[in-house]
Amino acid sequence: MPKGEKLYEGKAKVLYKGTEPGTIVQYFKDDATAFNAQKKGTIAGKGIINNKVTELVMHNLERIGIPTHFIERLSDREQLVREVEIVPLEVIVRNVVAGTMAKRLGMEEGIRLERPLVEFSLKDDALGDPLIAEEHILSLDLADEDELSEIFDMTHQINDFLRGMFAGIGIELIDFKLEFGRLYEEDEVSYSLILADEFSPDNCRLWDLKTGEKMDKDRFRRDLGGEVEAYQEVARRLGISLETE
Ligand code: C5P
Repeated sequence: MPKGEKLYEGKAKVLYKGTEPGTIVQYFKDDATAFNAQKKGTIAGKGIINNKVTELVMHNLERIGIPTHFIERLSDREQLVREVEIVPLEVIVRNVVAGTMAKRLGMEEGIRLERPLVEFSLKDDALGDPLIAEEHILSLDLADEDELSEIFDMTHQINDFLRGMFAGIGIELIDFKLEFGRLYEEDEVSYSLILADEFSPDNCRLWDLKTGEKMDKDRFRRDLGGEVEAYQEVARRLGISLETE
């Protein structure tokens, strides 16, 4: 697919300039990293699955009124998105205790939370994306009060919708990470907040509702094996075809 200059290479994606102004091409790699890139490997075919799962999720979210950066999927591993200024926050939503929350608070994984929890980390690889409070966000002017309230509203709406979507295919949505971006108008002053980045088994936890089996990147992080099959099973249940184009 035609694309412009390479802008950035991350752990799982490469970003290129799109051919139209204000657009970006996201290329999804098979590379997998964990624990802030201390562990590295590949999950064969992951890029194709993550590209297609992200397409489906963004498309469904648009249908319920969540604005996203997604424009269209271009190929097996590429999608065209709108260029945004990324809000430097990782927005983490938790329905069930797992991962770093379990570790930090000395809790068992699997405890259902009374209500969904939204946490924020500062997007900074060198610092290992430290957990921060809303007060940090406002005091450091990473986002203002209106943006924060919009982020909370959209995040809860996304969580409600995606929990239902996954429950419908026998999967419990344990937690996930979102990123938001500012989409500027032509005046380069006014902007709206939209959902950016990706939504895939790389950045959420998905447990089989019947067996509790993990169907996400924890299979790689924790050396459980079967990561390729787990990602494929998520795609299969979502009705995604993995025939290469
Ligand atoms: O590791 P932790 O338990 O804090 O992760 C919570 C959720 O956020 C998990 O679904 C994980 O995949 C996702 N996450 C992510 N990128 C990060 C940190 C967490 O996608 N840098």
